[in-house]
Order: sequence, then structure tokens, then C-alpha cells
Amino acid sequence: MNRQILLKSRPVGMPTEDNFEITETPEPEIKKEGEVILEARVISVDPYLRGRMNDAKSYVPPFQIDEPISGGMVAKVLDSNDPDLQAGDFVLGRLPWIERQTAKTEGLTKVDDSLAPLGYYLGILGMPGLTAYFGLLDIGRPEAGETVVVSGGAGAVGSVVGQIAKIKGCHVVGIAGSDEKVRYMIDELHFDQGINYHKTSEMKQTLDVVCPYGVDVYFDNVGGEISDAVLSFMNIGARIIICGQIALYNATQQPVGPRIQPTLLTRRALMQGFLVGDYASRYEEGTHTLSKWLKQGKLTYKQTVVQGFENLPETFLGLFKGENIGKYLVEI
Ligand SMILES: NC(=O)c1ccc[n+]([C@@H]2O[C@H](COP(=O)([O-])OP(=O)(O)OC[C@H]3O[C@@H](n4cnc5c(N)ncnc54)[C@H](OP(=O)(O)O)[C@@H]3O)[C@@H](O)[C@H]2O)c1
Repeated sequence: MNRQILLKSRPVGMPTEDNFEITETPEPEIKKEGEVILEARVISVDPYLRGRMNDAKSYVPPFQIDEPISGGMVAKVLDSNDPDLQAGDFVLGRLPWIERQTAKTEGLTKVDDSLAPLGYYLGILGMPGLTAYFGLLDIGRPEAGETVVVSGGAGAVGSVVGQIAKIKGCHVVGIAGSDEKVRYMIDELHFDQGINYHKTSEMKQTLDVVCPYGVDVYFDNVGGEISDAVLSFMNIGARIIICGQIALYNATQQPVGPRIQPTLLTRRALMQGFLVGDYASRYEEGTHTLSKWLKQGKLTYKQTVVQGFENLPETFLGLFKGENIGKYLVEI
């Protein structure tokens, strides 16, 4: 039995399992040159998939109803009609959520499971790692001694952001949603301070204590009220990377926040939106440096792995409940 996961209906607000459907699909065949048969091995669940479930214009087209969801996947080649790929190879691609499928080899990248666990190519050595690397270094430009705050600090992107900021000699404060995550950020990632935003009723008072010299770089993964609080601590010349706004992805009304322009003006601060895809021509540089830091033990990385293709929808929903530490993945 070969299975696929379709978008059954467009979510309004928080998605539910009813928005997805698992159906059977025929076993794949190779029909043309340059095609392979792939078997899904590790599939990434990512917050940006939520945006693609809306029928709205964005930087990627929306998913279609009754069509498979697609996203980052590492798959095993079962059969190949391309001289560059052999049965048994592993490839990384943006692929539909189908257990076994025919795919064009164009757009697939061969990955080596002897160099790193397969899930790392969807995490620290893949899109989230590159997001942390280019977002922080290109827009944040952290300097030794500066204070860097990262929200979503225990997640796939945030955990790498804070560690790179430590490599650069910064004072690092991570914000996350549980005591376990705060312990992880401090004990394993070596951030200087961690805040559990669920337990902090007065965010500004807490930030005042953990950022006594203000904030020079804010890597924003979540938006909403957490970011409203951080933004009032920005120093003159601060840099704010708008990477993600997960706190707002399920909003059904346009959220109203503080008017930020006076703060940006008086602090002469830079606030810039960031999309990792804009850095495609430099991915090799990013992956090379991240692999080197991993090998040198300067970076560590965690994955939360759920077993079973049928658990993809539930795992995706778990991102909005903060179920993951590090990269959230489904292994098949
Ligand atoms: N711009 C780009 O190119 C780019 C690329 C990759 C990712 N992103 C964005 O970066 C962010 C992090 O992505 P990721 O892949 O690393 O995900 P992640 O942090 O591994 O997982 C999502 C985390 O978000 C937190 N969260 C969920 N709902 C929240 C809420 N209402 N308020 C505050 N935190 C909430 C949860 O952690 P807690 O327990 O801490 O709440 C959850 O574990 C996302 O916003 C994503 O869209 C952007």
C-alpha cells in the first residue's frame, strides 16, 4: 500500500487533523530519462507550510485542495534512470508527502548518511541552519560583547542562531516556551540566559534583568507580544531580523501592535525581513561553515523525531504547541 497526505480543506485559524486526508495512490513507475523512484525516509515539518495552506499570494504558491502537501524530504533511491544516481543513494528535495513516488532528478541533491544523520540535511545542514547562518551574520552582524536575543530559541533555527552568536562572543538570551527548553538552551547550547515566556507575566521586567545593557541584535522567530516586549530594549544601531512570526500564523484578524517606527527612528535601528531562499547562491558557503563548526564541536544539534508517515499531520500541528526541541521530523 502506497500512501499520500492531501490538503483536504483550508484551515481557518489553528489547523486540525480534519484539514488533512491520507489516501492510497498507485505504486510509482519510471517513464522517462532523468527520473528516479524514491522512498521517503525523513520528512520535515516546518512552520511555513501553514502559510501555504491559505489561498493567498505569497513568496511560494498555495497548496491546492486534494493535492499532496509538499516540503523538505530525504528519500532513498529505489530505482534510477539517471546515471548520476544509483539505487541505495539518498537525496534531499522539496517533495510531495507520498511514501513512494517518481521524481525528476533535477532539483534533488545527493546526501551522504555516513557524514551526518539524514535528518541533519533538513535541519542544521539544511534550510533551518542556513536561515540561522545568513539571517544572523548578514543582517544581524553580531559583534563580540553585544547582546543578542533570539525568540523560538530552542527550535530548529533559534538553537543555531544562539550558538553562532556565542561563537561570535556575544551575550545570548534565548526565549522559549518551557522550563525544559530553557535548561536546554543554557546547559547544552550554552546561552547566557533563558526565558520561559509562559511563566513570565512581566516580560519587560525580566528582559530588563537579563539584558542589562539593552539589546543589539534581535532574531525574531515568533512575533506577537514577545517581540513587542523585546523591541522596547533595542540599543542605538540595533539590528532586528524578521525571520518568522509563528505567533501570528493562525491569526484570523490583522493583529494590532505597538507603532514601532518612533523606536526605530530614535534608536537608528534596522529592521529587515529575511527569506533564506534569497541566499541560494551562497548555500555552499553556509553549509561548509556549519559542517566545520559541527565537526569542531562548536555547534550541537537536537532533533525531535516521530515515527510513522501517518503521523505527519499531527506532528505538523505540534509545532504550534511547542512539542519539539530542535528540529521536528518524521521518520518513515
Ligand atoms: N524567513 C525564512 O527564510 C525562514 C526559514 C525557516 C524558518 N523560518 C521561521 O522561523 C521560525 C522558526 O522556525 P523553525 O523551523 O525553527 O521552527 P521551530 O522553532 O523548530 O518550531 C516552532 C516553535 O515555535 C514556537 N511557537 C509556536 N507557537 C508559538 C507562539 N504562539 N508564540 C511563540 N512561540 C511559538 C514553539 O516553541 P516554544 O515552545 O518555544 O513556544 C515551537 O516549538 C518560524 O516562524 C518559521 O516560520 C523562517
